[in-house]
Amino acid sequence: MSFKEELQKRTAEIEEILKKYLPEETGFQKTVLEAMNYSVTAGGKRLRPMLMQETYRMFGGSGRVIEPFMAAIEMIHTYSLVHDDLPAMDNDEYRRGRKTTHAVYGEALGILAGDALLNYAFETAAGALSQELNERTARAIQVLAEKAGIYGMIGGQVVDVESEGQAVSKEKLDFIYRLKTSALIESSMMIGALLAGASKEEVDKIRRTAQDVGLAFQIQDDILDVTSTLEVLGKPIHSDEKNEKTTYVTLEGLKQAKQDVEEISKRALATLASLGRENPFLEELITMLITREK
Ligand code: IPE
Ligand code: IPE
Ligand code: MG
Ligand code: MG
Ligand code: MG
Repeated sequence: MSFKEELQKRTAEIEEILKKYLPEETGFQKTVLEAMNYSVTAGGKRLRPMLMQETYRMFGGSGRVIEPFMAAIEMIHTYSLVHDDLPAMDNDEYRRGRKTTHAVYGEALGILAGDALLNYAFETAAGALSQELNERTARAIQVLAEKAGIYGMIGGQVVDVESEGQAVSKEKLDFIYRLKTSALIESSMMIGALLAGASKEEVDKIRRTAQDVGLAFQIQDDILDVTSTLEVLGKPIHSDEKNEKTTYVTLEGLKQAKQDVEEISKRALATLASLGRENPFLEELITMLITREK
């Protein structure tokens, strides 16, 4: 099977897992359940659950305790996008090829559907404790919480919105990217490693790998914001310019930004290789992200 076929197969498997964990659309609060499912089922690359599962496999994991965590990380990621698109934040109308959640359901439901996805993610992940009640599972829930919070994604989003319209140093921009984007990717790969029983040192190497994967991923996102189209990306281009954001592209130009994506991704692959474990698909996936077009 080619890499592309492998990728499609694995994405389809992740879609099936996600579907199992989404809430049923019934009861007086039906609208919020519909809005949650609207945003999650719109698609998306499913990169975070994929990185989680592949890291789990790399450390020899083969059980199903990973599945609620795969669903949970995609719920948290999707909530971060629903809120990121709100009028008070990036104010964008398209996401994953559809109207954004707040554009369809209204701003209040956009906020509530995001809140609901975040809570449901933890309800789902905590369900793993009834599959495997042990220290690994508990630690995985702790990582999930930490990386989504004030020392993770939310912390990064705060500095991102506060920095709009201002000059931002490279150091501060790296801080923003490590938190707003790398944190959830670190969470994904660390949880995969933890649940498979990786050692503390191994989990730390995975965290460093994931930090670089996230950094390169966000720089490529900045590049695509100026070079792609709404049709290909499924979200509006020039969103960063509209919001007067400093990005890698505004700071150092397109050419250097592209070089950085490649260099940082190669550093990620080198850290991964230093673990002495094999997962050719994971390596190809990280390599493919360098030239991704969406
Ligand atoms: C978008 O993430 C937000 C960033 C961190 C750049 P993705 O590019 O993974 O979005 P989906 O999940 O494929 O829609
Ligand atoms: C968002 O960065 C990262 C999140 C935590 C959601 P962006 O604002 O650049 O993401 P897009 O371009 O809207 O997907
Ligand atoms: Mg944003
Ligand atoms: Mg945005
Ligand atoms: Mg962007």
